[in-house]
Amino acid sequence: MQPQFDIQLSDSVTAQRREKALQNPGFGVHFTDHMAVVEWDSEQGWHNAAVTPYAPLQMDPAAAVLHYAQEIFEGMKAYRQPDGGIALFRPGKNAVRFNRSAKRLALPEIPEELFLEACRQLVRADEAWVPETAYHSLYLRPFMIADEVFLGVRAAQRARFIVIACPAGDYFPGGVKPLDLWLSTKMTRAAAGGTGFAKCGGNYAGSLAATAEAYENGCQQVLFTDAYDRDSIDELGGMNLFLVTDDNKLITPEVNGNILEGVTRDSIIQLAKNLGYEVAERRVTISEWREGAATGAIREAFACGTAAVVAPIGRLLVKDAPEIKLPEPTGTITMQLREELMGIQHGTISDTNGWLERIS
Ligand code: COI
Repeated sequence: MQPQFDIQLSDSVTAQRREKALQNPGFGVHFTDHMAVVEWDSEQGWHNAAVTPYAPLQMDPAAAVLHYAQEIFEGMKAYRQPDGGIALFRPGKNAVRFNRSAKRLALPEIPEELFLEACRQLVRADEAWVPETAYHSLYLRPFMIADEVFLGVRAAQRARFIVIACPAGDYFPGGVKPLDLWLSTKMTRAAAGGTGFAKCGGNYAGSLAATAEAYENGCQQVLFTDAYDRDSIDELGGMNLFLVTDDNKLITPEVNGNILEGVTRDSIIQLAKNLGYEVAERRVTISEWREGAATGAIREAFACGTAAVVAPIGRLLVKDAPEIKLPEPTGTITMQLREELMGIQHGTISDTNGWLERIS
């Protein structure tokens, strides 16, 4: 039986702190007043579900996650709707992907309904934190950590599932400005049989040195290629990639076990098809991109993800090689898909796909 949530609301909530955070939320810097927590161990299964005041975690220094990075996470958003209510966007997709990640990281799978209920309960407790500003949202970060106190290398027998939330404005400061990408030619993020498809902290930790290299070269994101041929495009540091051709086709790397199966990626594919564009999910190479950008056959490129939504790309910078410049950095199709997706999420465009789940 699913554990019931014990709701322990904080009595020290300050409206002033919230209002200040909502005025300029940025991304991932201000956290709401509560968190949802559910515990697991191999004997009792999932138990002790609660919404508690947001607080630092107590953890033994020998907890498995601190040594072997047995951890996974998700990213999803709650959106204020025009009638004042709140909706989640395709939360079931996140629940399913979370369990795929759990399986790969030898963590316990969590019943989808328990995952979803934790998210709903947290949003209800922190309802006042869901922004009313256009295109702002409440970002939810469900995650699971192995907290068994044991240094042996095996799957932990104890874990905690936690959901925290932060109001979110633009992921990239400065709004919709075309991104410059840095091609990582030395470091890769995934290989066949690895954890590339899973949303685990280790994948992101492994991308940070390459991201630092991108920053040093004046870029906002790093682009990774396949570990073997170093030409096939994999994904960015934290987003999927699409190219748009001059005959209005979208091309994106196929789901091949190495890239994250983005919920935004999937939504863009469906929206593009609904709008009459052809979409090819296949191997895409840097060579093809370079040649296409030079001839004009590839006109636009964009990154997409829950946090970044749809971010146009201006240039791809490559060490010791000429940069690749997109002819139309904030092109028509990129911006159309961005407006369409955000309109559906925020309830200003009809949700004909049935993607919103109203929670209030
Ligand atoms: C997201 O878009 O939700 C992500 O997880 C990407 C990044 C913030 C890690």
